[in-house]
Amino acid sequence: MPSPLEKTSIILGVTGSIASYKAVDLASKLTQAGAVVDVVMTSEAVNFVTPLAFQSITHRSVVTELFNPTSEIGIDHVALAKRADAVVVAPATANTIAKMAFGMADDALTATILATQAPVMVCPAMDGHMYENAATQSNIKVLKDRDVTVVGPVDGYLASGLTGKGRMADQDEIEGHLKQLLGRNGDLRARRIVVTAGGTQEAIDPVRFISNRSSGKMGYAIAEAARDRGAVVVIVAAPNSLQDPVGVNVVPTVSAKEMKSALEAEVENADVLIMAAAVADWRPKTFAHQKIKKASGSDTWAVQLVKTQDAVAGVKRNGLIKIGFAAETEDVVRNAKSKITAKNLDLIVANDITDPDGGFGSATSQVTMLDRNGHSEDLPLLSKYEVGHRILDRVAILLKP
Ligand SMILES: Cc1cc2nc3c(=O)[nH]c(=O)nc-3n(C[C@H](O)[C@H](O)[C@H](O)COP(=O)(O)O)c2cc1C
Repeated sequence: MPSPLEKTSIILGVTGSIASYKAVDLASKLTQAGAVVDVVMTSEAVNFVTPLAFQSITHRSVVTELFNPTSEIGIDHVALAKRADAVVVAPATANTIAKMAFGMADDALTATILATQAPVMVCPAMDGHMYENAATQSNIKVLKDRDVTVVGPVDGYLASGLTGKGRMADQDEIEGHLKQLLGRNGDLRARRIVVTAGGTQEAIDPVRFISNRSSGKMGYAIAEAARDRGAVVVIVAAPNSLQDPVGVNVVPTVSAKEMKSALEAEVENADVLIMAAAVADWRPKTFAHQKIKKASGSDTWAVQLVKTQDAVAGVKRNGLIKIGFAAETEDVVRNAKSKITAKNLDLIVANDITDPDGGFGSATSQVTMLDRNGHSEDLPLLSKYEVGHRILDRVAILLKP
């Protein structure tokens, strides 16, 4: 499945904030993701960035005024409002937020916002005192109460010289929220999905641990795909270096034991559990509370290992759909088949981690999905996000009453 932004009509409103230069990059990101981006600028915004900058990136004419008989909006003033899949105002000035709160429509942007039935998102950017002002706070509350998504502002250095809350949220965060907004009525709407990700760490002493090569990318990609189909997603995460996906709740854990107990709590109200984490099968039998010294007199060191408790097999809630992963280096499908019954799974996703294009840490994966009835489906080499969607297609079928 392509990006959820592919072929969508996004109206990007740009207002008279110093942060408007960042909107050029945002327009570029959305265009690269396949969206058709129509930029609407206020008359103050054009003091900061030229319409040409946006036009060159979106390859579409930019709207700067309501009354222009040669432009599309001059002929049909609600044309953009009608075709929008979403309207994003980034940056949103205190002034435009106030106009939105009062339902004004005295320029092309506010007229479009008032007339659209598409979801609206605003990304405030302003001096810290302007943001904290009771008027701005109450206007933002009005917007939130009307189901407008407000993203940011965030803390940081402000053009006014102040440091504080007022910076526009970064482009990736805005894009993540936009995908979530576009997918909110998707086929997994309001379904609660728990995904595990990363490789657990089993401590030997305060500085050493046993772990594995799992990067967490597969679990995180599945979580993003589920979010983009309207699901409420939680990642129970073993250590990894990935950024938390926007709109997904991440519960950090370290060891297999911690992951198991976090998982038991999270699946209480879940519909689906997808176990993409590489959970240690073995852990050191004892934990040394002090660092074990090299100068112990011996040239070898044997660490005794004991089995960990299986986190997936332990989760036994009725009605919970359970999907496991089998990362194997040999006999991939045969090993996966034995796991599906041993762990009481609805589906297992098997992959050969020796494959250089599809192993740990790569952005792509080539997997085989096996179900309880012994049916198997080989998928081609796909991005992990696309693999996530293929798994979720099966989840959607399993969830049907
Ligand atoms: C240099 C400069 C920077 C400004 N930056 C911001 C800003 O970041 N946020 C904001 O709310 N207003 C800012 N303003 C004030 C707005 O431009 C002003 O309120 C304007 O009326 C907004 O019009 P608009 O909402 O129609 O774009 C700035 C003004 C100037 C002169």
